[in-house]
Amino acid sequence: MPITNRLALLALTFLFFLPSARADEGMWLPLLLKQLNEADMQKKGLKLTAEDIYSVNRGSLKDAVVQFGGGCTGEIISDQGLLLTNHHCGYSSIQSHSSVEKDYLTNGYWAMSPSEELPNQGLTATFIVRMEDVTKQVLQDVPATGISEDARERLVQQHSQQVAQAAVQGTHYRAFVRPMFGGNEYYLFVTEVFEDVRLVGAPPSSIGKFGGDTDNWMWPRHTGDFSLFRIYAGPDNKPAPYSPQNKPFKPRHHLPISLGGIKPGDFTLVFGFPGRTNEYLTSWGVDEVYYLSDPAKVQVRDTKLRILDADMKASDKVRIQYAAKYASLANYWKKWQGEMRGLKRLDAVTRKQEQEARFQQWATQGDAARRAAYANLLPEFEKNYRAERDVSLARDYVTEAALGVELMLYANSLLAVVDIKNAADRTAAVQKLKTGVNGFFRNYSKSTDQKVAAALLALYAENTPSTLLPDYVKDLQKQYPGKSKWHILPPTSSPNFAEAQHNIPPSIDWTAYADYLYSKSRLTTPESANAVLDEVAKGNVAALTNDPAYQLASAIVTNYRANILPPYQIANDNITLLSRTYIAGLRQMQTDKTFYPDANSTLRVAYGQVAGYEPRDGVKYEYYTTLDGIMEKADPTNPDFQVPARLVELYQKKDYGPYAVDGTVPVAFIATNHTTGGNSGSPVINGRGELIGTNFDRNWEGTMSDIMFDPDQVRNITLDVRYMLFVVDKYAGATRLIQEMTLVGKPEANGKPAKEAKVKKGKHKQKA
Ligand code: ARG
Ligand code: GLU
Repeated sequence: MPITNRLALLALTFLFFLPSARADEGMWLPLLLKQLNEADMQKKGLKLTAEDIYSVNRGSLKDAVVQFGGGCTGEIISDQGLLLTNHHCGYSSIQSHSSVEKDYLTNGYWAMSPSEELPNQGLTATFIVRMEDVTKQVLQDVPATGISEDARERLVQQHSQQVAQAAVQGTHYRAFVRPMFGGNEYYLFVTEVFEDVRLVGAPPSSIGKFGGDTDNWMWPRHTGDFSLFRIYAGPDNKPAPYSPQNKPFKPRHHLPISLGGIKPGDFTLVFGFPGRTNEYLTSWGVDEVYYLSDPAKVQVRDTKLRILDADMKASDKVRIQYAAKYASLANYWKKWQGEMRGLKRLDAVTRKQEQEARFQQWATQGDAARRAAYANLLPEFEKNYRAERDVSLARDYVTEAALGVELMLYANSLLAVVDIKNAADRTAAVQKLKTGVNGFFRNYSKSTDQKVAAALLALYAENTPSTLLPDYVKDLQKQYPGKSKWHILPPTSSPNFAEAQHNIPPSIDWTAYADYLYSKSRLTTPESANAVLDEVAKGNVAALTNDPAYQLASAIVTNYRANILPPYQIANDNITLLSRTYIAGLRQMQTDKTFYPDANSTLRVAYGQVAGYEPRDGVKYEYYTTLDGIMEKADPTNPDFQVPARLVELYQKKDYGPYAVDGTVPVAFIATNHTTGGNSGSPVINGRGELIGTNFDRNWEGTMSDIMFDPDQVRNITLDVRYMLFVVDKYAGATRLIQEMTLVGKPEANGKPAKEAKVKKGKHKQKA
């Protein structure tokens, strides 16, 4: 059936299910809260005004929120620049100060005086000074139609830079412009970037990473996922590079910390820097994620993780070398599986088709202008997704599988040096490459990587449509004939697309080939790799170009750049343009709905309420966890569930100080806020503007919220701030840190009278 007919039919069926703004969905621009959300937030329990949350003229909550490094969020919790974020966000800083003798990852670290606070080169904390809608300036003289996406983007970039430069002229601020709603709007962000951010405290991994990858993305959760840093500033309280003379930064606002607790239904607000969402994807886009991209990536990582796991179990050396790589691979491997289940549960593709049917009907029934703008939009989407499908899959297999082989990734980093004709330039480039050699090989196990190569190259070669494979790879079947066994399609293929008939994959014995590759290539040890680079510096480029690892990587990457990327980019540019129009159309169609822009690592507010959930039939989850649950999960035989002796001791003595609730200590809670990657470390704030926790994860059942939100299932996971205080105070004895915080809600807190104990203590049911 032609798509327009099918859409019309669906439209009839679903005419009456008009969408409305759905509870708790949304990542809102702080600047627009007054206009869009204030009334709704107050109805749901916010006691503040929008101006208290975001203001340019006076201190507001936003002045206590920073982007921490590149990918996390942090919040300011004292008037001396003390910063709270996640343990997994501070992980690389903690690691960089660690050695076998001073193993801060394993044992934790607590600066007992200011002089023990440890500087971190390259770590930044970025405040948002202000934001502004600059759509008019950016789109000035940019034709709305009849311009290529490429040319439009160049103009937009040029205008954005002008706007950003003008905004910070003569100040120490920085600025950038970001598109919202697919480029229908543009916003300026003026930032203040602090460069002297020091490590103040971190619990041992047995607290900060308790549950490890086993519990990652899961509820119920017992991870004490926090670490503490401090922002330092120059004598004028402005950003300055590290100097022993720098002083603790005096913020415009720091968050008071509530000891008052939470109960179901309580208002919660998450303020942070969510990275990326795709809420306005069409059914074809969701189809691609669900049937193609997620399964392919999961399959590749699944294969790789199995191999790493076996080798890590067999060797301590490999275990340490691959711990961080394993964790980072496992994180999204697990997330994508949750996402697929969530999309299935929601029947997301069908829901999107229903929405598209309504859109099509709205478009075709409109006046001439509306019809001209929108009536042909959806068929165009379909056309471009169809064109993109094979190359998109091929792209996933290059990035995840072929370049998932470390030897390929390494060889890829050496490709460019061959093209340098000038001898002096080449020597300089080789010099630079040589500085990377030791870093790469320190955490490299050749025999592990060889096993990975045998499996992942097979996945790459057998799942890439063979027209998109380089001849170099196909020709390997002459020398290494074998049987294909990895092909995953069609079991996951979409009912919405007749998947392209891929030619028969090459039949190669990848184990035999990997044997050859890893015995012949000189790029597999630091000594021989250095020797190759030295020869290249002397002008013998063939030392590199004759290497079989170089040749394979070069063949894969050259083919990727020539045959996969260009058509992918063309389709993708078209889809970008179509999406902009589609979002504009949706906003015209649903005038009663409040829209939010997709996450793009800019400052956002999400709000919702404390709530448990029912993950599946017959199972009901509480909204909070406690220290008792840590003891329940304790397992000395499992590295993910170690409990430090000191914690056991506090537990046995019930030495909980003012952080106790009903004879235990609260550890984590969940709420309905719409969050994503990048929200890690975000302050979770109650209706009075007080800190109740720090966000660190999402529940597995809710991971599809990057594409489709479901208020029944989506929960953000928050470390209860009282567990943080308990660990800092009772476990670590770092009372100087407690002293500088502003605790509210319980009179005996930090030895001084609390500001106002106007909060009623949350009623916690004793666990059965
Ligand atoms: N899932 C959390 C976030 O995406 C935490 C990741 C770190 N923790 C871990 N066990 N690997 O990204
Ligand atoms: N742990 C994630 C982060 O590092 C947050 C989890 C999510 O995606 O919601 O940002």
